[in-house]
Amino acid sequence: MLNLSCFVALLFLSLNHSISALSCYECESTFPASSICLPTCTTRFVPDSTCVLLRNISLEPSDVGSLRAAHIGDVPTMPNITEKSFVFGEEAVYLNPSAAVGWDWEYGPITYGCDTDNCNHPEDVNRLPNALNARIPNATLERLLLGDLDSSCYVCDTCLDSDVTNTDMSNCTKEPCLNHACGFVATRNSPSSTKQCNAGWHYSSYCMGSREVAQVDMTLIYYIRSKSFYIYQMEAVCLRNDCNNMTTFKQLKDAVTVDPDLTCLIDSSNSSTTTSIRPVTSTTARVTTSTAVGGLTSTTTRQVTGTLTGPTTTQLSTGSGITTVSNIQITTTGSGPEQLFVNTKLFIFVIFFFLFH
Ligand SMILES: *[C@@H]1O[C@H](CO)[C@@H](O)[C@H](O)[C@H]1NC(C)=O
Ligand SMILES: *[C@@H]1O[C@H](CO)[C@@H](O)[C@H](O)[C@H]1NC(C)=O
Ligand SMILES: *[C@@H]1O[C@H](CO)[C@@H](O)[C@H](O)[C@H]1NC(C)=O
Ligand SMILES: *[C@@H]1O[C@H](CO)[C@@H](O)[C@H](O)[C@H]1NC(C)=O
Ligand SMILES: *[C@@H]1O[C@H](CO)[C@@H](O)[C@H](O)[C@H]1NC(C)=O
Ligand SMILES: *[C@@H]1O[C@H](CO)[C@@H](O)[C@H](O)[C@H]1NC(C)=O
Repeated sequence: MLNLSCFVALLFLSLNHSISALSCYECESTFPASSICLPTCTTRFVPDSTCVLLRNISLEPSDVGSLRAAHIGDVPTMPNITEKSFVFGEEAVYLNPSAAVGWDWEYGPITYGCDTDNCNHPEDVNRLPNALNARIPNATLERLLLGDLDSSCYVCDTCLDSDVTNTDMSNCTKEPCLNHACGFVATRNSPSSTKQCNAGWHYSSYCMGSREVAQVDMTLIYYIRSKSFYIYQMEAVCLRNDCNNMTTFKQLKDAVTVDPDLTCLIDSSNSSTTTSIRPVTSTTARVTTSTAVGGLTSTTTRQVTGTLTGPTTTQLSTGSGITTVSNIQITTTGSGPEQLFVNTKLFIFVIFFFLFH
């Protein structure tokens, strides 16, 4: 009788919907400038997660570089994503005072997101693109950012819709800004925004405290599967009367293109290797779904194997130089998908054993 109950219960459960837990590497390291040091990592399963690998490497010897592998939920600076396979970064263009250089594009930290088990291996830092290669045509930059600033800049703090359809500045004031620069920042809504603008932009414009070079700084995300991108924040400095207006923002935003070089990034996004756990569903009244599954996920994370010990040497090419990566040491811990599934069954069996006894 007991066995039959269990059998029926298990059969019922395996026909019901499943949730998936994803295993990601977790580790962090900092190092002087670009002498990348790969940290020792562990792995952990988290339901409905995305793995991320963050790289922040500077070519300035006095700076500190960093590398971090994590579950997305543990990285507070990550924006709200709509697809789980992406490259997220910060890029900027500024007018170099040297006419020979002109418009100079720079890139900052980059974050890779993926959703197959252990896809955020720190060793793959070498495969990440340097940048999304965001670009705005030179002519657009010149037209919108350069000119003569002998009078004023707009001062405004408001919400704009997602497409910036309304560019009317009549509710904004103007402020004298002689010999300084005009600026604006537009940010997509986020939980941390000071002003909540629903699905739109929080737009704020001002007179800069000093004379600065014309520039545009952006954080943006490129979704690998849909080959689409999304701008989270745009900050600009322009040097012409009242240039920090909504039209300038809209035209800059609409002129952005990206072209990340993903040739080295092996995207295993098609092969879905995420672990399927058959959870105890809500239809079986006496067992709570979330706690049962949540508890299971953490209890089955065990330290098992140790592999891939260094030292190994690989090379990372950055924008203007080659950096040597040394001393790779990855320790893999955690149980495999099959193990987790077997444990789930065992768990369910135990629950029912107690219920029917
Ligand atoms: C990246 O590193 C630079 C230099 O150490 C630091 O100033 C900056 O805050 C870091 N950025 C992120 C996102 O960690
Ligand atoms: C834009 O300007 C930069 C430098 O000012 C130059 O290197 C680049 O080739 C220009 N791009 C185009 C498409 O003209
Ligand atoms: C200006 O502000 C008023 C009052 O808040 C509002 O009714 C009006 O729609 C605003 N105009 C524009 C163009 O945003
Ligand atoms: C994040 O995105 C989801 C799905 O698009 C949305 O439901 C949620 O409100 C967003 N959260 C924030 C804080 O924007
Ligand atoms: C907005 O700024 C652009 C230059 O960036 C300028 O050509 C335009 O006249 C400005 N519009 C308003 C309403 O000030
Ligand atoms: C992945 O999927 C895309 C379209 O969804 C397809 O073009 C591509 O060939 C697939 N790659 C592999 C390795 O299966």
